[in-house]
Amino acid sequence: MTSTRPTAPALSAEDLVVEYPAGRGQKVHAVSGVGLEVAAGETLGILGESGCGKSTVGRSLIQLPPPDSGTVRLGDVTLTGLAPRELRRARARMQIIMQDPVSALNPRRRVKDLVWEGPSIWGSGEDTRDKDERIDTALRDVGLDPATVRERRPHELSGGQCQRVCVARALLLDPEVLICDEPVSSLDVSVQAQILNLLETTVRRRGLSMVFIAHDVAVVKNISDRVMVMYLGKVCEVLPSDGMHHEAVHPYTRLLLASLPEVQRGPQPAGAPEPGPAGAAAELPSPLNPPSGCRFRTRCPLATARCAEREPALREIRPGHRIACHHAPPERNPV
Ligand SMILES: Nc1ncnc2c1ncn2[C@@H]1O[C@H](COP(=O)(O)OP(=O)(O)O)[C@@H](O)[C@H]1O
Ligand code: SF4
Ligand SMILES: [Mg+2]
Repeated sequence: MTSTRPTAPALSAEDLVVEYPAGRGQKVHAVSGVGLEVAAGETLGILGESGCGKSTVGRSLIQLPPPDSGTVRLGDVTLTGLAPRELRRARARMQIIMQDPVSALNPRRRVKDLVWEGPSIWGSGEDTRDKDERIDTALRDVGLDPATVRERRPHELSGGQCQRVCVARALLLDPEVLICDEPVSSLDVSVQAQILNLLETTVRRRGLSMVFIAHDVAVVKNISDRVMVMYLGKVCEVLPSDGMHHEAVHPYTRLLLASLPEVQRGPQPAGAPEPGPAGAAAELPSPLNPPSGCRFRTRCPLATARCAEREPALREIRPGHRIACHHAPPERNPV
């Protein structure tokens, strides 16, 4: 008999807040009340311009450092508030892949030691034979030839090979969740597709959940099941990536999509707001002093007085699709 009990998300976060001190009593409102859920085997993309708080969310999820407030759960374990020892143990179930693989790797260490860093920190796998086998399997799994790379140091590898070593190191700990923060942004275009393909096939084969952070719409859309769009520390829209170009209704998401070449954008929905040139060109307001009400209002072609007065709540407009906007197109508004 199958259980009817709903399974807990693999990873969830509620009301994350992160503020960085900025001198003279000021603070950077980097992340302001962000929540998310990632199901087992699901990839959630986080999309938004540089500076909108994507990396801060990623680091909060893995508690490096923990958020100022809010809750993070990994399966049924609440990470926020755990004692350091338990947190370290729980955190091994969630691994992060960073943007710059070369600086993520200790330049003095050889590949075999870099890949084994996790178990040496967590204190498991002292059996040397087992260790060598596991390192070689991990390297093969990410498309590297152990005999060629095992004894090399990071400077003897290409950027793509270094990122493969980072993936191997993360996978060796057999995590349930991967957080990938702009994992291909620093790589040559020719290598980006290979690493994306590696991540995609790895999470599918192992049934992992992934949070995939990037500023590139096409990259996020292609690899994700759902996409969460952020602007200036807030969530604007969460929607399935399939048909995203047609279904997105938040003016900021539409602005991001409008920046893509038409061939990638596909057909546009009737009544979709056309972002004006001011919206497209305007800069992100300062996170030291975000606009009142809706933070996007200074660039939004649909903004009204209400947008300055009241912050729009994130609301569901149909199953699996949520937006934070007072003036979504009428056909999408709940009755
Ligand atoms: N350690 C820090 N100290 C002060 N401000 C920071 C720090 N890290 C990030 N910020 C600021 O927080 C905001 C969000 O940054 P970040 O999360 O890196 O955004 P993204 O990853 O979307 O580019 C930015 O304004 C950034 O300048
Ligand atoms: S709430 Fe107002 S300013 Fe914000 S996105 Fe919607 S219309 Fe634009
Ligand atoms: Mg970032």
